[in-house]
Amino acid sequence: MRGPSPKKSIALVAPYVPGKSGGAGSRPAVKLSSNENALGASPRAIEAFRASSLALHRYPDSQASSLREALSRRHSLDPARLVFGAGSDEVFGLACQAFLDEGANIVQPAYAFAAWAIAAHAAGGAVKTARGGFVADVDALLAEVDQETRIVFLANPANPTGTVLPAGEVERLWRGLPERVLLILDGAYAEFAADDPAYADGLALAAQAPNVLATRTFSKLYGLAALRVGWGYGAAGVVDAMNRIRFPFNVSTPAAAAACAALEDGEFCARSLRRVVEGRARLALFLKERGLDFIPPAANFITIRIGPGAADFERALAEEGYVVRGLANYGLPEHLRVSIGTEEEMAGFERALGRLLDAHGRFA
Ligand SMILES: Cc1ncc(COP(=O)(O)O)c(C=O)c1O
Repeated sequence: MRGPSPKKSIALVAPYVPGKSGGAGSRPAVKLSSNENALGASPRAIEAFRASSLALHRYPDSQASSLREALSRRHSLDPARLVFGAGSDEVFGLACQAFLDEGANIVQPAYAFAAWAIAAHAAGGAVKTARGGFVADVDALLAEVDQETRIVFLANPANPTGTVLPAGEVERLWRGLPERVLLILDGAYAEFAADDPAYADGLALAAQAPNVLATRTFSKLYGLAALRVGWGYGAAGVVDAMNRIRFPFNVSTPAAAAACAALEDGEFCARSLRRVVEGRARLALFLKERGLDFIPPAANFITIRIGPGAADFERALAEEGYVVRGLANYGLPEHLRVSIGTEEEMAGFERALGRLLDAHGRFA
């Protein structure tokens, strides 16, 4: 007997491969595979999370009103134009469900973040991937846009490459799109690139354009990956369509409370940002000294070119107690992505990397 068949596009979904947690040996592993905040979560967020446990029997505020107000104050946004999700992943899902119909497609750059394709296929759409290098290629993206394109996705900074597309290029991409195409600017790593004068986080463009949705997350700088809070900001019509299909209680009370507190904890955010900026500069220096190629980093990770033996190198690092991210499923089989950890973790990582390079060369 055959059970029900899912719709055709579901068969096209390559299941998401999360960063591994455990090491290979018996000692506890240092997890550098999911671009989380190495300093943990803000103590104020943890306190707010605990305090919210007194209201676990109540449904959440379906509008996430406190968080909505806090975010609109922080970024000078119109609160009515925000849409919340259980992580920005859910925001992508809502956008795809709202704007893709049968036969429609999304366009994404080379080495695109895997969740977008899942969201597109789940909504019944197709995925067109532009050619290009580690920095998104605007002309190649525009060349893929056809009559059936409804959404163009761009992460800035990008994952897994960690590169920035300069603001002028993002604007050129937007200007090249028909108004019926929604440009989603995924800013999961926006805070880590804020010091780059060529970078813009997309909120200003989303404020003025009828077809731009800028998304952000509390999973990275704010250290709340477990709680799943993300948001999008866009034109009233775009956000209204997404809110119509959003299940009303998708951001839990503890998650919203912790996110509000995290947003207010400027000291923790500044310390987290400093750790990433210092940590990536230091690792970049080490890699240069050891003659390893890497993609210049703008987010909270560095993507290193190891060579054809990258998978073996990943296993050897795990045996040393350092779990990093292999990128074969992103079409980068010779690269490994390493999240920036604490100072101590990164010093240990450098020593482990150094030992492996001394013992085996580049696993070529
Ligand atoms: C580019 C990019 N966008 C979005 C996300 C998802 O973040 P969230 O935890 O908000 O779903 C990630 C997480 O790794 C990411 O790398």
